[in-house]
Amino acid sequence: MAVENPKILTKNYGVANSWTLDVYKSRGGYESLKKALEMSREQIVNEVKAANLRGRGGAGFPAGMKWSFLKPNPPKPNYLVINADEGEPGTFKDRTLMELDPHRCIEGCMIAAWALDVHAVYIYVRCELVKSIHRLQQAVNEAKKAGILGKKLLDKDFELDIVIHPGAGAYICGEETSLLNSLEGKRGEPRLKPPFPAIAGAFGAPTIVNNLETIATIPTVIEMTGEGFSKLSKLHHLKDGGVRLYGVSGHVKKPGVYEAPVGITLRELIFDLGGGMRDGRTLKGVIPGGSSTPVLREDELVNAPDEKSPLHPWHGKSVIDVPMGVDTIRGVGSMLGTCCAIVMDDTTDMVRAAENLMMFYKHESCGQCTPCREGTGWMYKLCRKIAQGEATKEDLANLYDVANNIMGNTICALGDGAAMPMLGFLQKYREEFESRVKSGKTVAAKPASKDPHAHAH
Ligand SMILES: Cc1cc2nc3c(=O)[nH]c(=O)nc-3n(C[C@H](O)[C@H](O)[C@H](O)COP(=O)(O)O)c2cc1C
Repeated sequence: MAVENPKILTKNYGVANSWTLDVYKSRGGYESLKKALEMSREQIVNEVKAANLRGRGGAGFPAGMKWSFLKPNPPKPNYLVINADEGEPGTFKDRTLMELDPHRCIEGCMIAAWALDVHAVYIYVRCELVKSIHRLQQAVNEAKKAGILGKKLLDKDFELDIVIHPGAGAYICGEETSLLNSLEGKRGEPRLKPPFPAIAGAFGAPTIVNNLETIATIPTVIEMTGEGFSKLSKLHHLKDGGVRLYGVSGHVKKPGVYEAPVGITLRELIFDLGGGMRDGRTLKGVIPGGSSTPVLREDELVNAPDEKSPLHPWHGKSVIDVPMGVDTIRGVGSMLGTCCAIVMDDTTDMVRAAENLMMFYKHESCGQCTPCREGTGWMYKLCRKIAQGEATKEDLANLYDVANNIMGNTICALGDGAAMPMLGFLQKYREEFESRVKSGKTVAAKPASKDPHAHAH
């Protein structure tokens, strides 16, 4: 059966001039804001809680709960900061919302600002996403001109400004506390937590940091009610609600961004939405949610407990295909992350793939914490040595050691985000690493049945 591919968050994609105010309004835009302005702040936060909206930025924290950490009438102003840095390799979903539906993004900001008693919202956008920045700025200008935003929010006396802030061009600036430092004009280095941003965030004031997709989902939550939205998910019973954007890239026939209910399976993402593997090729591994999430082998796509079964939570006998939910993917030892899968077929040299990723983390480590600064460099060097067939068994043991010593020993999650996939590659494709240490040769890919041009690289 073909997987459901609803058009809720993406309902304006493909519509001519979807990014303009006129088109947005003609398709129901700003109706949710109108509705929200008639609701109390508490009611809105409760709807977001009922929506079971798990943050779309990577960690999957419940948005409603995060919002409830901010209190109205604060001694200092509250801030809302939107994370649109989208630097995670393999992740390219937020930019589609910003380019094709920027008014949805800022309508979400307006509703959240009203609910959280915020008068200044910052949208921190990855600086390379020039079109996204232009479209958001254009939307803000249009909304101001139309009297939707400014001294009043629609017809309510509620002053609000939305500032589009181009990012500083570093992966680390997507980590929420580095982002706040960068926003303040400081070096983009993570802060120690606690205090968490909800206590002391931007400019030392209480701040909510939300991913761009999380915030762009808010108008739909208000429109449908929280419960109505949550029930769109296949994992509503696990408090992982709604629909979301999925990305799929790599060795599939139809890479791209697709909307689907939360909880479709990885197999559905790869073989239905993604069009399946290239001709004559088989699936060797999939990184489920951006490069920081550990790789899964083909045989691990069917390894999840059937959450609805009486055998739940864990019972070796009850297995189904792994649904893509925050907790279900965690249940098979990886993470849902940004929900953007990187698919690798049997031509992929896993040692080279790991080397490639480690080069990225080495480059992007901010250098503040020694285990990450030194460890990412060592992981890259050791992967390269193994890939070149120059490594000894001791090097392989050291690679495990270095990765294990990064885990849990850094201020932010970049270190873990490098070490976890490294350990994943080592555990899942151990033979491939070991054979390179012994023989110095690439493990040959199986010959393709149809594609004579495909070859191991
Ligand atoms: C190294 C690193 C990079 C990150 N990059 C991003 C990013 O580009 N976009 C994003 O939304 N979250 C990113 N995050 C996660 C944020 O720190 C934070 O959890 C997120 O913005 C919270 O939003 P949410 O609760 O709506 O998901 C990153 C985290 C780390 C450790």
